[in-house]
Amino acid sequence: MTDDIAATFEPRVFSGVQPTGNLHLGNYLGAIVKFVALQETHPCVYCVVDMHAITVFQDPAELQKSIREVTAAFLAAGIDPKTQIVFNQSRVHQHAELAWVFNCIARLGWMNRMTQFKEKAGKDRENASLGLYAYPSLMAADILLYKATHVPVGEDQKQHLELTRDIAQKFDNDYRDRIAELGFGPRFFPLPEPIIQGPATRVMSLRDGTKKMSKSDPSDLSRINLADDRDTLAQKLRKAKTDPEPLPSEVEGLSGRPEAENLVGIYAALAGTSAAAVLGEYGGSQFSTFKASLTDLAVEKLGPVGAEMKRLAADPAYIDGVLASGAERARVIAEPVMTAVKDVVGFLR
Ligand code: AMP
Ligand code: TRP
Repeated sequence: MTDDIAATFEPRVFSGVQPTGNLHLGNYLGAIVKFVALQETHPCVYCVVDMHAITVFQDPAELQKSIREVTAAFLAAGIDPKTQIVFNQSRVHQHAELAWVFNCIARLGWMNRMTQFKEKAGKDRENASLGLYAYPSLMAADILLYKATHVPVGEDQKQHLELTRDIAQKFDNDYRDRIAELGFGPRFFPLPEPIIQGPATRVMSLRDGTKKMSKSDPSDLSRINLADDRDTLAQKLRKAKTDPEPLPSEVEGLSGRPEAENLVGIYAALAGTSAAAVLGEYGGSQFSTFKASLTDLAVEKLGPVGAEMKRLAADPAYIDGVLASGAERARVIAEPVMTAVKDVVGFLR
């Protein structure tokens, strides 16, 4: 049924990455690699979500640097800024406008269930920003402003995608008659589908296989950054936590072994194969052997991306040009959608 609804809309991909510090292997395998693949089959909009970033205080100069860095990572990974739209969120004011309308659609009860807010706010919830609480509503606005039908993300964003669908659904229900009357029907917004597939939808910390690899982990040894050089990468993998057993020959043998499962998943994703195929080759091997192969593979796949990011970092004018042109093209899609939303809601304009 949801597929039917998506089918009445032109397929379009939208996704976003926050410019908040080092991009890591989780961002790359969970999201960016998929962004690159999808541009072959879909028109895509890829957004550096700077408005989401400031839900937690960011140093202004660092934020500007990070916006350019994420953009450079998109381009270095192979996203084509001529055929696809790459821009930073704050340049298209309709994101903020639609987010406000959605703040009035979403229910407190829905927001209170968001696990990412609970994790990020931590124990001192009274001191979290209002923006952090409303974050998923802005994310819904990002996606629905482009009437996107498909959203490639890591596993941690699944709940936010469900909320996006709930918001789309409630908007359509609340304004059903008005939408029909204005000829925008039968549905105003699609119900976007998350694209969460493959062996690395949730890359775990190298220090603790039960924790997500994250930008905010205080230990840099917990993650592989896209910008890490060969020695750093090799050292991090050498130090990565494992268990004393050799690798199993079957996927079932990974259960209860989160660190082994994580490294095998990373290998599979980098090699473009499955965990079963990796174990077919390395079943029975010691971690020392497997880690050495994984290091070679990671250097082979990530090295060129890191090198291209460095090259682009030396050319901020080029990056800024990409973002400005992307924002212009994003506005062409966003403007009429926001205008129609205003008419639906009953704003005079
Ligand atoms: P963020 O850096 O939070 O903006 O995340 C950008 C994208 O990377 C989102 O699609 C996340 O779901 C994805 N992502 C972040 N961390 C991981 C991880 N450890 N494993 C897989 N995907 C991740
Ligand atoms: N919340 C996402 C994250 O932390 C980033 C994001 C913002 C996003 N807007 C989006 C992802 C729209 C997909 C679609 O990873």
